[in-house]
Amino acid sequence: MKRRDFINWVGLGWIASSLPVAIAACSSQTTSASGDWQTVGTSAELDKTGQLLAKNSPVGPVLVIGTSKAKNLTAVNPTCTHAGCTVAWKADAKKFACPCHGSEFAVDGKVQKGPATNPLKTYAAKIEGNSVVVKPT
Ligand code: FES
Repeated sequence: MKRRDFINWVGLGWIASSLPVAIAACSSQTTSASGDWQTVGTSAELDKTGQLLAKNSPVGPVLVIGTSKAKNLTAVNPTCTHAGCTVAWKADAKKFACPCHGSEFAVDGKVQKGPATNPLKTYAAKIEGNSVVVKPT
């Protein structure tokens, strides 16, 4: 084996052996990033109406219910699990209602009335400084 061939051979072996490690490092980074708190708006926006809809947040559509003074914030993905309409929060009845076919969901996302059969996806939510942040649960 010539010297150049040997160097190429060793170089290829090094790349081949380090590739899985590099791929593993990248994918674990992606996993931890998706588990982090993500900003979906400001506490001032939330306080204006007691709800904050962020259609294109880093974790997808999020509807946060509450105010910056509330101890517990509620956050759900407002995409109806029946056929994908956006549910609205009914503060007086304390539930989410879908305008398309009448499904209703409790504050924790559970189905109260069909035709939807699956719950809304929920998020952990809190105030951090002047921001509203959420995290997939
Ligand atoms: S899309 Fe919500 S009830 Fe049909």
